[in-house]
Amino acid sequence: MRAVVYRGPREVAVEQVPDPAIQEPTDAIVRITTTNICGSDLHMYEGRTSVEQGKILGHENMGIVAEVGDAVSRIKPGSRVSVPFNIACGSCRNCEAGWTSYCLRTNPSEGMDGAAYGYANMGPYDGGQAEYLRVPYADFNLLDLPPGEDHENDFTMLSDIFPTGWHGTELAGMRPGDSVAVFGAGPVGLLAAHSAIIRGAAEVFVVDKERDRLALAEKIGAHPVDLAQADPAQQILDATSGQGADCGVEAVGYQAHDSAGQEHPELVLDNLVESVRSTGGIGVVGVYLPQDPGAATEQAQRGRIAFEYGTFFSKGQHMGTGQCPVKRYNRHLRDLIIAGRANPAFLVSHELGLDQAVEGYDKFDRREDGWTKVLLHPAA
Ligand SMILES: NC(=O)c1ccc[n+]([C@@H]2O[C@H](COP(=O)([O-])OP(=O)(O)OC[C@H]3O[C@@H](n4cnc5c(N)ncnc54)[C@H](O)[C@@H]3O)[C@@H](O)[C@H]2O)c1
Ligand SMILES: [Zn+2]
Ligand SMILES: [Zn+2]
Repeated sequence: MRAVVYRGPREVAVEQVPDPAIQEPTDAIVRITTTNICGSDLHMYEGRTSVEQGKILGHENMGIVAEVGDAVSRIKPGSRVSVPFNIACGSCRNCEAGWTSYCLRTNPSEGMDGAAYGYANMGPYDGGQAEYLRVPYADFNLLDLPPGEDHENDFTMLSDIFPTGWHGTELAGMRPGDSVAVFGAGPVGLLAAHSAIIRGAAEVFVVDKERDRLALAEKIGAHPVDLAQADPAQQILDATSGQGADCGVEAVGYQAHDSAGQEHPELVLDNLVESVRSTGGIGVVGVYLPQDPGAATEQAQRGRIAFEYGTFFSKGQHMGTGQCPVKRYNRHLRDLIIAGRANPAFLVSHELGLDQAVEGYDKFDRREDGWTKVLLHPAA
């Protein structure tokens, strides 16, 4: 089959690789209909992780079940499914508690809990930017979708970024009537804003410097905050009578930068501490890593990031972090899509064949105007 393979910094290739096969009786093989490029893939693409060359990328996958192992009884060949990016066993302590993003059994890497498809340090699993994908513990992990092709571009957001945006608001302790400050108007930030609005936010601010992304934020009913115009924390304080937002979501990650493009890994954390009111919550879904060989300082290379912790404490704020446990939310978010209450496909800008993945990575990585979210259709 054909697959998108990591070949080194800013280099991916579409290559012929062996088809995946059932390895355990609990596996399924899914024929991929849609697989997305994620901002998380860009950390690898830019050479800012330890991912090995030859890795098949892709953790945002959906498709049709092609084959199941002998121990798979719930999922049937021919079913249309969404594949959560987390690979979870379903029976360890963390899975039982609903933390499928921190499964204790699926990631053999020392000191790392939680596994994913096609990702650095998240276990030996191939990604789904390919024609077929092997899914471990298929009965537990796969989410059923209605048959047919309806809502394909909405449902494809269920594998990662819609649940992740929602999780950001959940970690922030968001309640109906809250004002919410979302940093980052990439796909995750935009879907955090969409989630906050669905959950009854009184007001949502979305901060970025990319004009096209800010325009999308405005289109879905949020207030765009352009960090290139003025300090974004001050803009949010000004808009909330100096009080600050009730809660905030970090949807940027460790490659946060200023309007000149200079990286400051602490910048968005500082902005959130400043622009969220005292006792407010902050949900951090933007990724931070324990090792970043490309960081500017020796401290940051070891994942040590100094931020306004003193003010954070003085304000009595709280923070939740980490990878999203997709299964906690995807069933309900699927049903919100079917009911017409959620339409995360609003951010799709490009639908490409697998062979155009090289261009997709390049343009999305440059945040080129209009390249908000790229979907790949391997069969196209
Ligand atoms: N926790 C999870 O489970 C999970 C899942 C998916 C993605 N992520 C992470 O979420 C983050 C966002 O993902 P994405 O796909 O939206 O990526 P993206 O790179 O497309 O979007 C990030 C956006 O942040 C903006 N930005 C940069 N510096 C900023 C600053 N100082 N203030 C405000 N905005 C700033 C960029 O201009 C860009 O539009 C990434 O770190 C990704 O790895 C986490
Ligand atoms: Zn993703
Ligand atoms: Zn587990």
